[in-house]
Amino acid sequence: MQQGSSQERWLAQLAWCKQMREQSPVYYDEQNHLWNLFRYENVVSTLADPATFSSRSMAPAQDSEESFLSSWLKGDITKMDPPQHRHFRGLVSQAFTPRVVEQMAPRIHEITSTLLDEVAAKGEMDLVSDLSAPLPIIVIAELLGVPPEDRNRFKDWSNTLIASTSATPADKARLKEVLPIFKEMFAYLQNFCQARREQPRNDLISHLTKAQFEGRMLDNDEILAFVTTLLVAGNITTTILLGNAIVCLNEHPDATAAIRADPSLLPSAIEEILRYRPPFTVTMRTTTRQVTIQGVTIPANQMVITWLLSANHDERQFPEPERFDIRRHPNRHQAFGHGIHFCIGAPLARLEARIALALLFERFPSLKIQPGAELEAYESPFINGVKNLPVSW
Ligand code: HEM
Repeated sequence: MQQGSSQERWLAQLAWCKQMREQSPVYYDEQNHLWNLFRYENVVSTLADPATFSSRSMAPAQDSEESFLSSWLKGDITKMDPPQHRHFRGLVSQAFTPRVVEQMAPRIHEITSTLLDEVAAKGEMDLVSDLSAPLPIIVIAELLGVPPEDRNRFKDWSNTLIASTSATPADKARLKEVLPIFKEMFAYLQNFCQARREQPRNDLISHLTKAQFEGRMLDNDEILAFVTTLLVAGNITTTILLGNAIVCLNEHPDATAAIRADPSLLPSAIEEILRYRPPFTVTMRTTTRQVTIQGVTIPANQMVITWLLSANHDERQFPEPERFDIRRHPNRHQAFGHGIHFCIGAPLARLEARIALALLFERFPSLKIQPGAELEAYESPFINGVKNLPVSW
C-alpha cells in the first residue's frame, strides 16, 4: 500500500474529481480564472476539436528575461495548432516511428539489466533514483545518438530542464540561474544537429535532418526544439509510470500474482495502470470562441483544464472505475491524451514499461515497497506520482 500523505492526497483528488463529475462537470475556478472539465465525453470532445480549443496560448508570456526560453517554446509541438502542427508532426513522425522505437527493445533490456545489476546484491533500492529516473534518459540519449562520453552531461541537462519546466512562477529566479545551463545544452545540440546533417548515422537526430513532408524539411532550430520537448515530455512521465506501476501492483497483490502466472497480461496491466494512475492528471487548452458544454457557456480566450484523471475514472465510460482490473477491456483511457496531440512517445513509454516490469518480476519476484516508507508526492496537482520509492526483495 502507498503510505502517508501521498496516498491521502491521491484519494482526496479522486474523491474531488468524482464529486465534480456529478455536481459540476464544467466548473469555473474564479480565483485562478480556469475552466475545468471532468467528464470523459467532454474531455475527449475538447481534445478532438483544436479549432475551438487551441494549444497555442499555453505558452508563457514572453518577457525579455525569458526570451531565450520563449524562442524554444515557439518551436514546441505541444503548443502548436493546425496547420503548423500538422506539418511539424508530419515531419517528426517520420523519424520517431514505432519501428525506430521497437528496434530499441534489446538495448532497453540491456540498460535495465545493467541498472538492476548495480543494486541486485543490496536487496533494496530506491526504484526512482536507481531505475525509473535514469532509464528513460539513457534510452532517449541513445535513441538520439548522443555519444557515451557525453551522456552524463546530457543527463544533467535533462534533469535541469525537467526541474525548471515544472517550476511555478515563484521559481522564476531559479529559472534565470539555470539559463546558462540551457544555453550550453542548446549549443551542444546545435553542433550535434549540424554534424549529423553533414554525416548522417542511424539515429533519431539524423532521421530528423532527413525528414520531408509536403516539400518541407526541419531546420536545426526546429530539431532542437523537438528534442527539448522529447526530454521534457518523455522522461518524467515514463519515470512516473514505472513508479505508479509498482504502487498499483503493491496495492493489488492478486494482480501481481496473476501477471506472474501469466506474463502475457503485462501489456493490459500497463494500460490499466495508465488509466488508474495517469502520470499527467490534466492537459490544458484555450478557447478560440464562445462554446457551450453541458449547458454551461465558456467565453472565448479562456483557459480550459481537461481532467484526464477524472475522465479515466468516469463511471459513464468505465464500469466500476475504482476497481483496478488488469484485464479491463475495452480500456480507452486518456493518459496519453486524444486527437492531434496524442502522445507521440506512447509506443516508447509502453515498451520501456513492459521491459522494465518484466525484468523486475523475473529478477526480484518478492519485490515490495518497504513497509513504513515515507513516499513524497509531486507538489503539482497536475502530476500524479512519487519522487522516491524505497523497495526491497
Ligand atoms: C504528448 C502523456 C511519454 C513525447 C502527450 C500528451 C499526453 C502525454 C497526455 C498530450 C498533451 C496534450 O494533448 O496537450 C504521456 C505519458 C507518458 C508519455 C503519460 C508516459 C507514460 C512520452 C515519451 C515521449 C513523449 C516517452 C518521447 C520520448 C510526447 C510529445 C508529445 C506528447 C512530443 C506532443 C505531441 C503533439 O503535440 O503532437 N504525452 N507521455 N511522451 N508526448 Fe507524451
